[in-house]
Amino acid sequence: MTHIKKYTMTVIGLLLLSFIFTACGQQPAAAPASNESSEEAAEADSGAAEESTQDKFLIGMSQANKGEPWRQAMNDQIAAAAAEHPELEVVFADAAQDNAKQVADVENFIQQGIDLLIISPNEAAPLTDVVAKAYDGGIPVIVLDRKVLGDKYTMWIGADNQLIGRTAGERVATWCEEQGHSPCNVIEIRGLEGSTPAKERGDGFREGIAGNANVEIIASQNADWLREKAIPVSQAMFQANPDVHVVYTHNDPMTEAAIISAEAAGLNLDDMFFVGIDALPTPDGGIRSVIEGRIDATYVYPTGGAEAIDYAIQILEESASPDKEVILDTQEVTEENDEDIYAQFGGQ
Ligand code: FRU
Repeated sequence: MTHIKKYTMTVIGLLLLSFIFTACGQQPAAAPASNESSEEAAEADSGAAEESTQDKFLIGMSQANKGEPWRQAMNDQIAAAAAEHPELEVVFADAAQDNAKQVADVENFIQQGIDLLIISPNEAAPLTDVVAKAYDGGIPVIVLDRKVLGDKYTMWIGADNQLIGRTAGERVATWCEEQGHSPCNVIEIRGLEGSTPAKERGDGFREGIAGNANVEIIASQNADWLREKAIPVSQAMFQANPDVHVVYTHNDPMTEAAIISAEAAGLNLDDMFFVGIDALPTPDGGIRSVIEGRIDATYVYPTGGAEAIDYAIQILEESASPDKEVILDTQEVTEENDEDIYAQFGGQ
């Protein structure tokens, strides 16, 4: 954008703001302290909303649950990407897997006068209205990874979970065929039911195994994406179904939990096939687990953190209108390519 254009827009923006505040008989809200702000220590009262020149932008990042390694990686990537742009300040909130808390976090961001919202919603339906409220109120909204319902947001960035599930299902169908299992018994451990990836990964998997009529899902349980929940859930599943060939879980932390339970149940892990999703390139992430021979196949599920900041810059500074959906690449990780992929993603 040219300097003159920027100046003109700023003047128009200022006039509009003063009109709105006069009409409402209000002063621009001073940003209250964030309820639990960030690693980046939000100086909430730097309030981009009342900045006249808009040479600073305040971004609210509403995270579904920081307690999971993949979500911490997303926050870290956002913080690192934003650090490259001194004009950006990112305030983080952690909903700790609580929909009501996440609604309150977004409300709080709206009150703070954020210039843009990034949200990775815990569950779709409960977060839809507050996201729409931000969007309708003129705040650009980037939805990351999990979706909301409807289309009241600026853009969604994430990988194709249906495709990941389908590829995992095809891989399982092939393994079952190679092993000659008939039937080939699968147990599934699912993510939080109201979160869109759980449905998509489950549906896609069913499409993928459809090519081999011997593959049978003999039990499917929910462990809400959480390793600690997946331990008792998988224990109970192995107890009820000792003749399991394949374990398909919707993320790697739940796969690791199932491996621990299978070992404890005295099952022969070498005869089983464990499939997860996420493939974080970290010492305790999924790629290393494949390298170390525990998980048999996992799928790179990029967090989209860096992309979110790239698009935020385009929206805020270049008045861009990005595509409504940006689909990120994924990759299958098996013993055939584990070391390469670990290196490719800078594994450490
Ligand atoms: C973390 C996580 C990831 C998963 C993603 C799906 O909360 O469970 O492991 O891939 O969310 O939204």
